[in-house]
Amino acid sequence: MTRELGIGLIGTGFMGKAHAFAYRAALAAFPDIPVPRLEMIADVAPDLATKAAHQYGFARSTGDWRALVADPRVDVVSITTPNIFHKEMALAAIAAGKHVHCEKPLSPSLADSLAMVEAADKAGVVTQVGFNYIKNPLLKMARDMAAAGELGEITGFRGIHAEDYMHDPESPYSWRIDPAGGPGVIADLGSHIIGMARFLLGPIAEVSADVRTVVTSRPVARGARERKQVLVDDVARILVSFARGCGGTIEANWIATGRKMQLGFELTGEKGSLVFTQERLNELLLYKAGGDARTSGHVKIEAGPQHAPYGQFCIAGGHQLGFNDLKTIEMGEFLGAIGAGRKSSPDFREAYEIQKVVEASIASSRARGWVRVA
Ligand SMILES: NC(=O)c1ccc[n+]([C@@H]2O[C@H](COP(=O)([O-])OP(=O)(O)OC[C@H]3O[C@@H](n4cnc5c(N)ncnc54)[C@H](O)[C@@H]3O)[C@@H](O)[C@H]2O)c1
Repeated sequence: MTRELGIGLIGTGFMGKAHAFAYRAALAAFPDIPVPRLEMIADVAPDLATKAAHQYGFARSTGDWRALVADPRVDVVSITTPNIFHKEMALAAIAAGKHVHCEKPLSPSLADSLAMVEAADKAGVVTQVGFNYIKNPLLKMARDMAAAGELGEITGFRGIHAEDYMHDPESPYSWRIDPAGGPGVIADLGSHIIGMARFLLGPIAEVSADVRTVVTSRPVARGARERKQVLVDDVARILVSFARGCGGTIEANWIATGRKMQLGFELTGEKGSLVFTQERLNELLLYKAGGDARTSGHVKIEAGPQHAPYGQFCIAGGHQLGFNDLKTIEMGEFLGAIGAGRKSSPDFREAYEIQKVVEASIASSRARGWVRVA
């Protein structure tokens, strides 16, 4: 087992900070993983990187991500930059023999993602993609319950990831809606709920989608009069057919006014159902069919140390995990996999499979009909 791993983090924004928190906390929660050494942090400008190095606890900083990737004391590269940079950075890191964590979506296009998968496979490095929400211990239990038949034959899945950070037509144009970075909400939020659906129920075989742009132009900068046409989607509504036989629906929406984090699902089976939303991530509702009709209803399961690895964060139930804890579980598993010389999950290949569903949905929407996920 590798005893120590030098961490190189590219990007110091929203996700850069979440990665920093997670690498710092991972050893406290997972004592058997290699020790993460916060070696170097990079951003577009040296001053941004220096400031973040001080704040996040990295030994060195650089304004040149290539220097980070090439540095011999960096063993693991974490990529938290806009999507358009993922491929170039990941391929450079893999070529330098580094293990790579890349934020989702893996890259702007399926072809680019496949190139990343193949390069990582060839180099034999461990990869991870930032689908942090499925690291929730309650979701692992949900998956295990479905797999063990505790809900009976699965009859349906209704999933959604809705937020409202783009609902205001005056929100300016940004890298998130630049088509060079890939499709819109279907890749940004849709990848999370598609990944969650696959995590719970396995592959999606066919899709029929309605993918649409609602806000057709945005100001080039906050408050600017000049506007730019929006070419990516704001809402995606997808009918899905799982390879296991059941059907379902998935919605991705970043103009869902009032919603901050409605990532959730209802999973129904002949004997019971499960209900989850990230808005209340420490709760899972379980309904068991066939009981006394007068007292039947959803039972609220509260996360606690009985749901591993909750207990590695806190020995007491009801105290609750948070977003950064899910990221810490992700990093703990990733570093543990590197130490043990095995694959981590979800890796580049799983992210590629998720992206296939995204691209099939876009093709289906254009064709106005069902499309097989190739
Ligand atoms: N897993 C999740 O839940 C989650 C949540 C939000 C974002 N994301 C993903 O994380 C990625 C980043 O999103 P964000 O919200 O953190 O964005 P952000 O804009 O907050 O941060 C991006 C960072 O990358 C830096 N950067 C840009 N170009 C760079 C370059 N060439 N070299 C070095 N640094 C560069 C920026 O200066 C900034 O610090 C995206 O792929 C996004 O989809 C994932």
